[in-house]
Amino acid sequence: MKQEIRVLILEDRADDAELLAKELKKSGFQPDWFRVDSEEAYLNALDDSLDLILADYSLPQYTALKALDGLKESELDIPFIVVTGTIGEEQAVGCMKAGADDYLLKDHLARLGQAVKQALQKKQLRDEKASADLRLEKTNEQLKAALNDLREVQGRLVQQERLKALGQMASGIAHDFNNSLTPILGFCELLLALPALESQHPRANHYLSMIQTAAIDAANVVGRLKEFYRCEPQTLSIVPVNLSDVATEAVELTRPKWQSEARAKGIEIKIEFDLKDVPFVGVELAGLRESMANLLINAIDAMPQGGTITIRTQARESEGRISIEDTGTGMTTDVHLSCLEPFFTTKGPKGTGLGLSAVYGVMQRNGGRLDIVSEVGKGTAITLAIPYYTAGQAKEDTTSLPQLRPTKVDEPLRRGDAAG
Ligand SMILES: Nc1ncnc2c1ncn2[C@@H]1O[C@H](COP(=O)(O)OP(=O)(O)O)[C@@H](O)[C@H]1O
Ligand SMILES: [Mg+2]
Repeated sequence: MKQEIRVLILEDRADDAELLAKELKKSGFQPDWFRVDSEEAYLNALDDSLDLILADYSLPQYTALKALDGLKESELDIPFIVVTGTIGEEQAVGCMKAGADDYLLKDHLARLGQAVKQALQKKQLRDEKASADLRLEKTNEQLKAALNDLREVQGRLVQQERLKALGQMASGIAHDFNNSLTPILGFCELLLALPALESQHPRANHYLSMIQTAAIDAANVVGRLKEFYRCEPQTLSIVPVNLSDVATEAVELTRPKWQSEARAKGIEIKIEFDLKDVPFVGVELAGLRESMANLLINAIDAMPQGGTITIRTQARESEGRISIEDTGTGMTTDVHLSCLEPFFTTKGPKGTGLGLSAVYGVMQRNGGRLDIVSEVGKGTAITLAIPYYTAGQAKEDTTSLPQLRPTKVDEPLRRGDAAG
């Protein structure tokens, strides 16, 4: 079987072109060929149906070198062989440098078949390499994507483990600290109850009450720290909660901070609501209330020049979401990475670093999630995603619950420390 090839012959002499075609046939090809003899006709004829170009070295108005340039510009990859009556060594080298696959003398055409076969083979190799490169690139991209996914999962796992370890440490410290505080508070109380103390030693009495106040403050910190990671058996009282109610309540609770305090500082903090109808979520109410207050206070702290806080609720497939967005300073990547750790604060002595860690603890215990999106200079959006309340979580019929205030369930639900 003869190999069919489509050939463009760039040649001003028709009989020379015929000769080339004949030679191709003799070498085992079945050429489907045509001849052009001008630049315009040549450039118009270039397309990817061509298997081969045979070009005369110099035509009256055109040259093989220019034809090679034209081919390069077309970005087509077509084997190109220069055929000429007379060609010096230098010209031959010039052709090869310009991208020709081979060059032949018209009176040595016996070599044409071999030259064409080689040029076609080279072209086939180039094609195979190109498609292998493409496959390689694709595989590389897939590997890169897989690696990125892996890194992300790894990062999340590390963060979770770190928080867990910190939580365990914190709860250990809280326990020991509590033990130390008990006698301090106890003896303060005993001493302050002595009837003669105030009259006979007013200064000691004053110092004692200062010690007592400081110890009570410390006990409060310990209490909050315990919230971050409860190691006692977890008995949660999960109740059906309407997120919109919690949102408005939290705003009322923090009104002194965002309204009066802000006004006193000469700034304005606007609160906006975007509340949707969301089915009841199942969560310990006190924990969620405190979380919302914490998030609002953080948002206010992040807007020393004033700004807007938007509270949104959203219903998703299996969870209700409530988010607090501020137009404040935002967090740097470092702060973002550390903000959930207990005691991490950027607020100096004014901060405790126990706000977000407590919120995280509440979500963790309730099978919810905490998501933080923040951009420096733009603001922060913190979203709490909480699973819907399910009928089995309480004995009471939720439809009979008053709309505005979620009711406590008779029998508290036991729930393990859910992974977030
Ligand atoms: N809405 C917010 N905008 C910018 N930064 C925030 C926001 N909320 C929290 N942060 C950062 O996270 C840190 C930890 O917050 P938190 O645990 O509540 O402790 P604290 O408020 O006592 O510093 C803050 O010090 C602050 O740097
Ligand atoms: Mg805080």
